[in-house]
Amino acid sequence: MNRTVEEIGRIFGDVGLGQFHLSLSNPVERGDYLAVEDEAHGAVLCQLDDLKRKSDFDLERAGSLGPREEAAIHENLLGIARIIGYRDGQGLVKLPTIPFRPGAHVFRAEEPLIAQVLGLKHHANSGAYVGLLRNHALRVELDINQLVQRHVSVLAKTGGGKSYLLGVLIEELLRHHVTCVIIDPHGEYGSLRSPAQKNGGYARFGVESQGFARQVQEYSPDVSLNPNAKPLTFSLRHTDTRDLLVFMGLTNVKTFLGPLKQIIDAVAARNPEYTVADLVRAAEHAEGAVGETLHERLEYVEQTKLLGPQGTSLNDLVQKGEATLVNLRGVAPDVQELVVARISTTLFDNRKKGKIPPLFLVIEEAHNFAPQQGTATSSRILKNIASEGRKFGLGLCVVTQRAARIDKSVLSQCNTQLILQVTNPLDLRAIAQSIEGLTDGMTEMIQSLPVGTALITGGGYHTPLFCEIRPRATRHGGESVQIVAA
Ligand SMILES: Nc1ncnc2c1ncn2[C@@H]1O[C@H](COP(=O)(O)OP(=O)(O)O)[C@@H](O)[C@H]1O
Ligand SMILES: [Mg+2]
Repeated sequence: MNRTVEEIGRIFGDVGLGQFHLSLSNPVERGDYLAVEDEAHGAVLCQLDDLKRKSDFDLERAGSLGPREEAAIHENLLGIARIIGYRDGQGLVKLPTIPFRPGAHVFRAEEPLIAQVLGLKHHANSGAYVGLLRNHALRVELDINQLVQRHVSVLAKTGGGKSYLLGVLIEELLRHHVTCVIIDPHGEYGSLRSPAQKNGGYARFGVESQGFARQVQEYSPDVSLNPNAKPLTFSLRHTDTRDLLVFMGLTNVKTFLGPLKQIIDAVAARNPEYTVADLVRAAEHAEGAVGETLHERLEYVEQTKLLGPQGTSLNDLVQKGEATLVNLRGVAPDVQELVVARISTTLFDNRKKGKIPPLFLVIEEAHNFAPQQGTATSSRILKNIASEGRKFGLGLCVVTQRAARIDKSVLSQCNTQLILQVTNPLDLRAIAQSIEGLTDGMTEMIQSLPVGTALITGGGYHTPLFCEIRPRATRHGGESVQIVAA
């Protein structure tokens, strides 16, 4: 290590193999990278996990001071550092097997060492560039093969920057021609078509504004509310009677299933190619309050145009190298679940048969589609995809503001976590429990992350790292609505 390197402190006290204490002589921030020269292995990368100001000013002295009296206080800045390791001859990250010596000098780590040990490299073909290592000019790229093969979760409180980050990720996937299907409950992702207005961050991050209009297509069950979308429909003949009840908004299966089956059987006997309009006509003559409700709800389904003779074909829905948005804005929650369940099932079945390319399935508001408590129509298939999808090249990405409310088995199958600010203690606990290698210091840092900084675990990296997310090349569609003009 050369002489110009900035020394920031010295190791003291008992020294462990995983962490050590140091007295700090220069200011450093929690999360900063440090280096210690090891006799056997050269520079070893470490990270400041916690800071404390120690002083000799105790309760007794504090109590004995008069109101305006100043005291001479002797203080020291104490740091707790975690040892990340060094790269050995084979390129593997190793921890020293003998503790550092007390008294050893601690330096600010230089970027080549950080890049080498963390494994930050530019991969033109397989890297999704999501941002820069916090406080450094080092690119953080996620391994696209890992993303698709090993599932991703994006976790943060509302307004934490989940949709923005996901936009960044999808831009990268589109640049690499990875096929994506995005369940978009709020209709936020249509803006991936349009380039962003240039902003101050572009030069530092090396980003150019760019739209992806040619690679984005949008479907929606409600095209009157979402005019940019093509109609998403399902085949009536492939919809079983229970699902039809969901489309009708009827939850009381016991009451309605039998009578609806009767109507369908009678209509199908006359014309196997029946339509919803045929069912409406038949229900007109159904008797009693139940018959009346069935008639009224079938009329509603007819208006939604959700069930057609053909249904949207898979070949239209999935386009190789492109992103398909399934815009569910304005669609009732139970119908949303059904849509997600049916699309996910179709994608998984056809992926197993190799009929569609490997793809990345994004579920926004995933706690609604695979809840920890209670069930959603879509729960089972999403759990299946979480546990088996990787074998078939179906990558799942779940996005949620309630880590505690999403099914634990789904969350724990995600090997890459992108975590932005989270403050709810229950959500923090769920995150700490589902992720290996998070230190207490990192968990504390998650609570105060500024907007635009993420903690990344997995994604091809062996240690969690903090990343400043790059600006979007496309317009962000999730701006909050201004209620009062600024
Ligand atoms: N990386 C970022 N850089 C700049 N602004 C950001 C970034 N991430 C989020 N924002 C801003 O924060 C707001 C909330 O982000 P959003 O992604 O919509 O939150 P969430 O989806 O978590 O509710 C956005 O309107 C956006 O302007
Ligand atoms: Mg959002």
